Amino acid sequence: MKKLFPLFSLALFCAISSAQNNVPIETPKNSSTNNPANPNLLSGQKLFLKNCAHCHGADAHGDDGPDLHCLDESDEWITNRIRNGKKGQMTAFAKKLQPAEIAALVAYLHMLK
Ligand code: HEC
Repeated sequence: MKKLFPLFSLALFCAISSAQNNVPIETPKNSSTNNPANPNLLSGQKLFLKNCAHCHGADAHGDDGPDLHCLDESDEWITNRIRNGKKGQMTAFAKKLQPAEIAALVAYLHMLK
């Protein structure tokens, strides 16, 4: 959690400064960019803690499920894995999460290095 604090303050700072300047926060089409100011990342982490952490660990370093750092898969592959899960191993989230929430999770996972 400690590690994430600078990221959080940066995102918060950006949110505040762009609100003051009246500049809308852009959500990039390609959510896999490593942009720490991407507001998706914060909700991605929240969603992760709520839906995934009990299997993958709160820090995503693995528990029942594998470590999710340095994933080498495409956005599409990860999206499909989250949507479909894996029989007998991982829950399918297609009915539980909105596409935008899955996109936020994918962005969050790509940020884990
Ligand atoms: C019930 C436990 C469980 C939950 C909940 C769960 N997972 Fe998994 N996940 C697993 C297991 C076990 C695997 C390994 C399956 C395999 O062998 O491919 C896995 C694999 C993955 C992989 C592929 C990793 C790789 O290197 O192949 C991704 C990505 C992933 N999970 C993301 C998520 C996300 C995001 C969530 C929350 C939305 C989530 N998982 C929730 C158990 C879980």
